[in-house]
Amino acid sequence: MKSIKKCLFPAAGYGTRFLPATKSMPKEMLPIMTKPLIQYGVEEALSAGCVTMAIVTGRGKRAIEDHFDISYELEHQIKNTSKEHYLTEIRKLISQCTFTYTRQVEMKGLGHAILTGKSLIADEPFAVILADDLCDSKEKGVLSQMVEVYEKYGCCVVAIEEVPKEDTSKYGVIAGYKVDGRDDTYRVETMVEKPDPKDAPSNLAIIGRYILTPDIFEVIENTKAGKGGEIQITDALLEMAKQGKVIAYKFKGKRFDCGSVDGFVEATNYFYAKGDN
Ligand code: UTP
Repeated sequence: MKSIKKCLFPAAGYGTRFLPATKSMPKEMLPIMTKPLIQYGVEEALSAGCVTMAIVTGRGKRAIEDHFDISYELEHQIKNTSKEHYLTEIRKLISQCTFTYTRQVEMKGLGHAILTGKSLIADEPFAVILADDLCDSKEKGVLSQMVEVYEKYGCCVVAIEEVPKEDTSKYGVIAGYKVDGRDDTYRVETMVEKPDPKDAPSNLAIIGRYILTPDIFEVIENTKAGKGGEIQITDALLEMAKQGKVIAYKFKGKRFDCGSVDGFVEATNYFYAKGDN
């Protein structure tokens, strides 16, 4: 089985819930404390064994590329000063990972963004992180936990968490049966994008972490626009699930929806209290 070495970051969305902040700045660059959301994601991917970060960007997202590059002027200014340590973490990331980019020209949905990343991934299994879903866990990172699940089952893995039933319309929601006598691992039988609570097959919601096998690309190519007129990864994964090829894993840790103002504030308070950066 091929190991997971690449992590795709769909980061082309407009981030309308954060306007006007996101008018000319990528949502993924919003900081929790001093660190941009996407840097947390890259750190999580690296600690799960990914060394190539494949980022799907769009217009107005150039700040992401600049962030994962050396700024010679800044380096020169702070060299041998007391401020130099502020750059230690990001310098380390830049030296340990390769960053590749492609642009999604039209924002046709998450499934379409993932398909746009095909040229960066080619024919191997890969991880997907939505940087606005910020995760924190005591021991292993969420993606590291998922890589272990992938190594056991060798198929697509989605991270899930229980949400209040009235919130199902914000998520992709799965239903399935538990496998191997575990309480945290399900073989997915069905999944629905943003169902009304009354139609939701469960309260198990997919969050922004996936491990996908490369056959997903062909499935997305054949997936028609769904909810909201967008090409939904949930619809493509449903096709895979029908063939028994999707596992849902209830991760250990906390997740913050930093694409919403409430989640963003909650994450800021959490990381401040924790004393991170
Ligand atoms: P969201 O719907 O949460 O992001 O998409 P958004 O559209 O940027 O935010 P709002 O709703 O307008 O505030 C989930 C993820 O998928 C990416 C987004 O960048 C985000 O990381 N995405 C979504 C794309 O890359 N391309 C798309 O066409 C849609």
